[in-house]
Amino acid sequence: MKPIKVGLLGMGTVGSGVFTVLKRNQEEIFRRAGRRIEIAMVADLDTTRAQAAAGSGVEVVADARKIIANPEIDIVIELIGGYGIAKALVLEAIEAGKHVVTANKALLAVHGTEIFAAAHRKGVMVAFEAAVAGGIPIIKALREGLTANRIQWIAGIINGTTNFILSEMRDKGLDFDVVLKEAQRLGYAEADPTFDIEGVDAAHKATLMSAIAFGIPVQFDKAYVEGITKLGAQDIKYAEQLGYRIKLLGITKQTAKGIELRVHPALVPAKRLIANVEGAMNAVVVQGDAVGTTLYYGKGAGSEPTASAVIADLVDIARLHGADAAQRVPHLAFQPQSMSDMPI
Ligand code: HSE
Repeated sequence: MKPIKVGLLGMGTVGSGVFTVLKRNQEEIFRRAGRRIEIAMVADLDTTRAQAAAGSGVEVVADARKIIANPEIDIVIELIGGYGIAKALVLEAIEAGKHVVTANKALLAVHGTEIFAAAHRKGVMVAFEAAVAGGIPIIKALREGLTANRIQWIAGIINGTTNFILSEMRDKGLDFDVVLKEAQRLGYAEADPTFDIEGVDAAHKATLMSAIAFGIPVQFDKAYVEGITKLGAQDIKYAEQLGYRIKLLGITKQTAKGIELRVHPALVPAKRLIANVEGAMNAVVVQGDAVGTTLYYGKGAGSEPTASAVIADLVDIARLHGADAAQRVPHLAFQPQSMSDMPI
């Protein structure tokens, strides 16, 4: 079978990781996908740096639309981030009949309904394992491993930056501002950490998990979102004295009144496994009616962990590519339906 050809938009940390892992594990990935996965083109404004990272056999362009216009490209990986140009390019790639793999939780949480509807119309896949909890295969767990269950609730530490900050505040007795500066110095927190520390990034991820778990549209605007900026060293210390740890949790839950979707600091009993998730790690607990409680733990960010999730989606598409559209579309997993009676 011919290799499946991929174009990658945005050659940063994760993009480099995709190249590294695809190369290192090429034989295993070939066996599992049933065909070679070849990144044929990369688009990045810094073409020199991108060419160095991608290697000489890859065509590097500054204009992402050259990838979308290339009929040889089967899959577009979007690693640009944000809602602006990334949204336009994802929609154009779908219109051009390409499958899309993205790590962009912000884009999908806010514009997912439009994007999934476009993909449904065109019979292409939009896969986003890397968008939630990085290397933890939580999207596949919800869609595949737990598919027999009625999901009752999900609660997760799904932002590594804030978990690192809270862990440091507890360990060192420091206040939020001091630890944030340290996290920025170490490269854990972005120069503009607003989405992380205000809980927005976690809410994007919780929105996506909620949509998959409960079969509802992606509705980030309905989420209750509170970050960790108001927490001080004293709060953490008092919680500790009472036998709790403070964790920023993303929670989504089926209730008699509808679906809850919220992100906020929560007191977690110190003996619980999730209370002991430290540093920049992520963990997600899912409660299903048949399976009971399940826990998923791992790296929620970083080059190779996120690449691991991106490549898992490439393999999924490579396996299904060639199947007819009717077989592929159910992978989108949820049908849009009205949320008007669900007070999330
Ligand atoms: N800023 C995110 C985090 C990166 O801290 O978890 C991965 O989405």
